[in-house]
Amino acid sequence: MRIFERRIDLTAWVKQAKIAGNSIGFVPTMGALHPGHLALAGQAKRENDLVVCSIFVNPIQFNNPEDLKKYPRTLETDLEHLRSIRCDAVFCPDEKEMYPGPETKVYDFGHLDKVMEGRYRQGHFNGVAIVVKKLFDIVEPHRAYFGQKDYQQLQIIKAMVKKEAMDVEIIPCATVREPDGLAMSSRNARLTPTQRQEAGKIYKVLQGAREMYPGQAVSTIEKWATQEINASPELETEYFQIVDAETLLPVGDDDLGNELVACVAVYAGEVRLIDNMKFYS
Ligand code: PAF
Repeated sequence: MRIFERRIDLTAWVKQAKIAGNSIGFVPTMGALHPGHLALAGQAKRENDLVVCSIFVNPIQFNNPEDLKKYPRTLETDLEHLRSIRCDAVFCPDEKEMYPGPETKVYDFGHLDKVMEGRYRQGHFNGVAIVVKKLFDIVEPHRAYFGQKDYQQLQIIKAMVKKEAMDVEIIPCATVREPDGLAMSSRNARLTPTQRQEAGKIYKVLQGAREMYPGQAVSTIEKWATQEINASPELETEYFQIVDAETLLPVGDDDLGNELVACVAVYAGEVRLIDNMKFYS
């Protein structure tokens, strides 16, 4: 497995690999790899000749400096995991390599980055779009793999690729879950044992909400789900919203027929967890 710290070296390697006729699958990450990331890399490995992963904790997508400080950094273990799934190349740049100067670009995603995560994490999606654009420019992959756990991020990245007319196929991958249903996340490692136990409830509430639809009104389901989660003394819902799966626009109680997604953000102590589930009428 090749490890690159400088963009120029990775770009040269990719260029040679492409001249030799290889397709490139790319998995961008912020490290602290868990089986969810490895599933993305595994799928990329099956669908491409070569797999490149990046490990970069992107400072400009953190709206909370404490969250950035506490973000787990486990580079050596991450590299071991990537070796075990026969990843071909890893890009681990430092901050100067990615941001040699101040970053001023501001994307306009219209409604997409104003709701849910965008509402509570100002500037987050702009930071994500900037770094993913830079990474795509460096790696120039044929396909890039993103987990559906970050559902809104996936929609933003698709919008960015369209806006920038980039020639990369975005592949959404199913959320990988713990046996109790908790979506795998690098943040789970920060939960206390009690918080971890209670966090499994988020998935059960999403399932319960899906069963209530379309029999119950969307607003009734959102209210029920919020109350159910908050009934745990360890959990506090930031939002539970059922939206159109494509546009992320809110849906009215009579909006039958569209594909919907329920998106939720929950605090377990200081740890912020997100999850989602598609609804079909
Ligand atoms: O999902 C993530 O881990 C990050 O937001 C990403 C896509 C690697 C950009 O920093």
